[in-house]
Amino acid sequence: MNKKLKVIIVITAIIASVAGIIGGGLMYSQDNSDFQGLAGKRILIAYYSYSGNTKAVAEKIQSYTAGDIFEIKPKKAYPSNYNDVVNIAQKEKSEGAKPELIENGNTEGYDIIFIGTPVWWYTMASPVRTFLSVNNFDGKTIVPFCTHGGGGESSTYTDIQKLVPKAEVKAGYTSYERSAKDADIKKWIDEALRQGKDKI
Ligand SMILES: Cc1cc2nc3c(=O)[nH]c(=O)nc-3n(C[C@H](O)[C@H](O)[C@H](O)COP(=O)(O)O)c2cc1C
Repeated sequence: MNKKLKVIIVITAIIASVAGIIGGGLMYSQDNSDFQGLAGKRILIAYYSYSGNTKAVAEKIQSYTAGDIFEIKPKKAYPSNYNDVVNIAQKEKSEGAKPELIENGNTEGYDIIFIGTPVWWYTMASPVRTFLSVNNFDGKTIVPFCTHGGGGESSTYTDIQKLVPKAEVKAGYTSYERSAKDADIKKWIDEALRQGKDKI
């Protein structure tokens, strides 16, 4: 090996190790041991998504937490026409509708449940209302997240807490459409699990 090549290898090794130290705080592994609040906990990520935005965030959370993932699906699928869904959702909100799900899912055995929803008419989508009503959340920790089209989370998280009064609902992660950033999601997971109820 010539001298020049050796120098290049040494410099590359130094750069790689420095980058590892600096980036260490942001490198999260599949075994979730980088998140203090998740240690030894059984984790579920349950979400509903009509057009894929919330699903994308849910899948990121799953990859960082190594939890189980469950897609909430209504028995009667919503129409693909946007205006039709908007009208149906408005009616469902005013009635507090809880549309039947293909599968109710099961929260037994989980300690921390991430719940994801698009914002529909300033609150959670109706299938999420069903999921929260048919499962048991007593004594469990809920970490909510939502995606929206410009209006923010509105009443989404406070409405979730009302449906599950015996659960502790942590601070939510709110993002616009597909704008969620990996580093922000990781920071939120870390911080949300250290916060009390008052941070909703
Ligand atoms: C029925 C319906 C109602 C909506 N209501 C709101 C709203 O109140 N506030 C808002 O910011 N966005 C609203 N949006 C936009 C969605 O929250 C946004 O596009 C979201 O990212 C969609 O997530 P998804 O792809 O997971 O379904 C609404 C969309 C639909 C279809």
